[in-house]
Amino acid sequence: MRKRKSHIIAVGGGKGGVGKTLTAAGLAASLAEMGLSVILIDVDLGGSNVHTLLEVEPEDDSATITRYFRVKGSLLDEILLSTDFRGLKVACGSLHNYRLVNLPYFSKLRFFNELRRKEVDCVVLDLGSGSAYTTLDFFAFSDTGILVTTVEKTAIENLYRFLRGAFLRKLRFELEKYGREIVDTVMNNPDLKQLPNPQEVISTIEHFYPQYGDRIRDFLKTVKVGIVLNMMESPSEVHIGKQMEKAVRAYLGVDAKMLGGIRYYEEVKRRMRMGEGMKSLWRISGLREDMGSIVKTLKGWMDRDG
Ligand SMILES: Nc1ncnc2c1ncn2[C@@H]1O[C@H](COP(=O)(O)OP(=O)(O)O)[C@@H](O)[C@H]1O
Ligand SMILES: [Mg+2]
Repeated sequence: MRKRKSHIIAVGGGKGGVGKTLTAAGLAASLAEMGLSVILIDVDLGGSNVHTLLEVEPEDDSATITRYFRVKGSLLDEILLSTDFRGLKVACGSLHNYRLVNLPYFSKLRFFNELRRKEVDCVVLDLGSGSAYTTLDFFAFSDTGILVTTVEKTAIENLYRFLRGAFLRKLRFELEKYGREIVDTVMNNPDLKQLPNPQEVISTIEHFYPQYGDRIRDFLKTVKVGIVLNMMESPSEVHIGKQMEKAVRAYLGVDAKMLGGIRYYEEVKRRMRMGEGMKSLWRISGLREDMGSIVKTLKGWMDRDG
């Protein structure tokens, strides 16, 4: 892992209730247990949960991400809270404020610039559901995006829609570096539908700007999209994740990887119903193993490219 530049991991996936927050918290805890310094940030701006799962109690919104995005000049350090997990700090999401859903572009930039400069190994972002621009951009700006899904068709459908949106945002930010004109020609092409098909966008680039063909393909290969299958009920379901990995690679040209699965645990459900947090869930050995195995694959993948 790179020194003095934190690696930002976004955990998203479109559909609500598939286990994004559990996965984000589990991966953060697991990375911290490996000896890394980790910050987990709740950026589900309309439905925060991280404080409950990590059992921290911010007094009010002056101790949450609301302060960071609302109060000029505020710093992340002012809202970071220690957890029961050594090496893991959290920034909680909004408790009462529900008007943060669409952040202006400069706020997102400022946020990511600060995250990159943080003297920690990893930052894990717990994203909200849906495909609001802010959520797509949090995914697009991160170094590694992790998609969480169950095997249900509705979850997979939302996942592809979310990924397509985030991919187009990422592509747009990259193309802006090449010049405004190319963005207008390629992304705002009136011949293309409302939400352009990623492959049509790539072929439009190759058609109008052949000199950028290789550059854009090389850029896409650096984009990392991990896949985690949650609530698995049989080991054979792993092949669904593998299929998704293949599809994402072929369709978007990015570096996709099936990172592993989390099994379905009745005990997770039961403990969460009782309002128990991560410390209690961590005593479910299977869950801890599943998270550990995903993190091992994730870390190998991240370290491969430095
Ligand atoms: N592996 C699992 N086994 C059993 N229940 C799970 C599992 N993952 C998630 N759940 C259940 O699903 C609920 C939603 O999980 P959560 O992480 O909050 O989803 P999201 O953040 O995607 O909305 C949890 O409260 C829990 O009851
Ligand atoms: Mg959540």
